[in-house]
Amino acid sequence: MMEGSLKYNISIIGLGYVGLPLAKLFVEKGHTVYGIDANEQKVNMLLKRQSYLTDFRKNEIRGLFSTNRFHVGTSFEAVAKTEVVILCVPTPLDSNHQPDLSYVLQAAQSTIPYLKRGQLFVLESSTFPGTSEEKLKPILESTGLLVGRDISLAYSPERIDPGSTWELAQIPKVVGGVTPSCTAFAKSVYSAAFDEVVVVSSPRVAEMTKLLENCQRFINISFMNSLLQVSEQLDINLWEAIEAAGTKPFGFTKYYPGPGVGGHCIPVDPLYLLWKARELQLDLPFIELSHQVNETMPEYIVERVVKSLYPKSAGESSVLVIGVTYKKDVNDMRESSAIPIMEKMQEAGLKFEYFDPYIHELTIKGKKYRTLPLTARNVKKFDCTLILTDHSDISYELLVENSTIVLDTRNATKNMKDRQSITLL
Ligand SMILES: NC(=O)c1ccc[n+]([C@@H]2O[C@H](COP(=O)([O-])OP(=O)(O)OC[C@H]3O[C@@H](n4cnc5c(N)ncnc54)[C@H](O)[C@@H]3O)[C@@H](O)[C@H]2O)c1
Repeated sequence: MMEGSLKYNISIIGLGYVGLPLAKLFVEKGHTVYGIDANEQKVNMLLKRQSYLTDFRKNEIRGLFSTNRFHVGTSFEAVAKTEVVILCVPTPLDSNHQPDLSYVLQAAQSTIPYLKRGQLFVLESSTFPGTSEEKLKPILESTGLLVGRDISLAYSPERIDPGSTWELAQIPKVVGGVTPSCTAFAKSVYSAAFDEVVVVSSPRVAEMTKLLENCQRFINISFMNSLLQVSEQLDINLWEAIEAAGTKPFGFTKYYPGPGVGGHCIPVDPLYLLWKARELQLDLPFIELSHQVNETMPEYIVERVVKSLYPKSAGESSVLVIGVTYKKDVNDMRESSAIPIMEKMQEAGLKFEYFDPYIHELTIKGKKYRTLPLTARNVKKFDCTLILTDHSDISYELLVENSTIVLDTRNATKNMKDRQSITLL
């Protein structure tokens, strides 16, 4: 720390959707950040003042470097120059839907030669309760440094919402340290960047906080998705019912259906909690059920597409898919429902092309696709337009005016006057 002021030297490991905005915030607040990422391509892009995130413009990267308090590289040596080490690496699922902590453990191991007395180590990656104390503490203590005495360890969940207008500093930061001194150190660091820091009694509580937030969304969105199928049979516009229910001033929170739950967090984090529960021989049926609903959504969507095209058969029909990222206004394809939906469309023999301003090309089951220019002429070529992601800068008027049928999984066409051709899924 610089003498006499609360300015920290911070290593941020993992410069993705979470790490890079966090680095920016700390630099803007006057701290010095050493960003470390194993991906050489990303580091080189940053060094060339280029961005790989939709929320980050080139001039913001230039601005960061112009402070001379932002450094990036692939080497962990920078850890030795810093008082604070923050880990923001991925926590995906493996092929059996089990937690894959390999990125966290590998990154933590890589810091070992550079750890020293007096440092604070914080995990921000979403993970199951117990990770910090059961997995990271032993790694840190393998250096001979004792957590709580020589080195501090805390967990602080990242709550960033890419693509939204929330300023990172305005989102309260939850922190929980292994000991009171660990918590105090973490509180001091985050208070020097965030407007509000919420202290909880342990890393386990902080880890659970993040999973609780994401499980709530997962379960409720999945519930809406299961209601879709009932609403279809009852000839009810579920979106209209949700809006009407949302007028109740208390006791109802609006969640919306969609083509499935995607992204790196909402469909993944609940399975981390489920895994932990099962380790204790406990069940979490709400999560299991929501996972099942989520897994069936692609099939349901493709069935609705095929039904809507009748009397044309799937093999004779073509579909224009609008939006393939897991949510609007981001370039993130992780766990996007569009992928299994397009796979299932291929299996059903449906020909399709796609448009997404953020994804220039993609491969589905070995077949390469490139985003089409969104023109009236192109839209007219297809039997059906299927809206999977409601990016903001798409002309929905153009789609509705030029499509024979529009199947809208996001209610993106809600303001259209001519709704004859639109079916909400
Ligand atoms: N994306 C979100 O909206 C979001 C929101 C809240 C929490 N999270 C959580 O934050 C964590 C990070 O997510 P993300 O979206 O930033 O992921 P990301 O994939 O965008 O970024 C992670 C970065 O870590 C790097 N990395 C991987 N292993 C490394 C290693 N051993 N050493 C150095 N760098 C390494 C990768 O190259 C990548 O750039 C995850 O646990 C995620 O669940 C994500």
